Amino acid sequence: MILGLETSCDETAAALVTADGYIRANIVASQADLHARYGGVVPEVASRRHLELVSPVVREALAQADATLDDVDRVAVTQGPGLIGALLVGLSTAKALAWARRLPLVPVDHLDGHIASLYLQPAPLEPPFLCLLASGGHTMLVDVESYGTQRILGSTLDDAAGEAFDKGARLLGLGYPGGREIDRLAREGDPAAYDFPVARVPGLDFSFSGLKTALLYATKKLSPEELERQRADLAASYQRAIVRALVERVREAAEQVGAARIAVVGGVAANSELREALADAALAPLDLTTDNAAMIASAARFIEPVPYPGYLGLDAFASR
Ligand code: KG4
Ligand code: ZN
Repeated sequence: MILGLETSCDETAAALVTADGYIRANIVASQADLHARYGGVVPEVASRRHLELVSPVVREALAQADATLDDVDRVAVTQGPGLIGALLVGLSTAKALAWARRLPLVPVDHLDGHIASLYLQPAPLEPPFLCLLASGGHTMLVDVESYGTQRILGSTLDDAAGEAFDKGARLLGLGYPGGREIDRLAREGDPAAYDFPVARVPGLDFSFSGLKTALLYATKKLSPEELERQRADLAASYQRAIVRALVERVREAAEQVGAARIAVVGGVAANSELREALADAALAPLDLTTDNAAMIASAARFIEPVPYPGYLGLDAFASR
């Protein structure tokens, strides 16, 4: 079994996955409540919380799988990108566990992890496919040719799609993280109430910062009572604009590269309107869209492990 660890942002996660991709345990301790009062993740607070949670979360994963460390053959961990202090907690824990048991270690790129959420049983997807990766930190189109070979076709020039959801939610006075809140509120609103434009940038890149500004101006024109009454319409229209931008670009890219299959991963892949709009695509299982360690262990199945003890000098990286 592979023990996976993920601590790149505000989820402390551990999972046990078999070499053929079956999830035996998948534990995610979210810190969202802790950061909600600040309206976003506070890096230093996140690191400290990871430190408190990481051992109990690993223990809980082992218990859920009815396993011990004797059943673990490899340790996989997110090396980056993410919050450097948060990443270091997971990486140091992984090193310590692997070193103590003389096991190999697999450093995993968080974005490869999101893509590998599609490779898990019971319905694993096989490359090639065109992947839309939309999360809080990243929005990109990836041409996945095989398990190890991929090409980035486009990415966001400013905000990530999830970030646009989160910032929009803040402007609407909704909680953090905002994507799920907007998703829920949008169901009660009229998506045609406001015409929010999305910047069309050349190539296959994305841009969401103008949209956020458009929402800011729309809310500024409203009194607090009007905003309260319009909140659902604003959420629905705002979500429609983000989803449209994502869907248009992914269809365009699919045509350009002649992709037979489209896949969607990352936190924003949980969005109900996006899932409906891309119902013909391979969608990451709902519980594996936001950050988790099963996807990290899954990615490790396709990466050469670093043998004991060569990984002790490995460092985390904040950005690619
Ligand atoms: O992949 P993820 O857990 O973390 C990163 O790697 O960034 O993605 C988190 C992002 C947040 O911005 C959150 O608001 C967004 O995913 N998200 C959603 C939904 N659920 C989570 N966005 C839109 N609709 C949702 N239902
Ligand atoms: Zn992520």
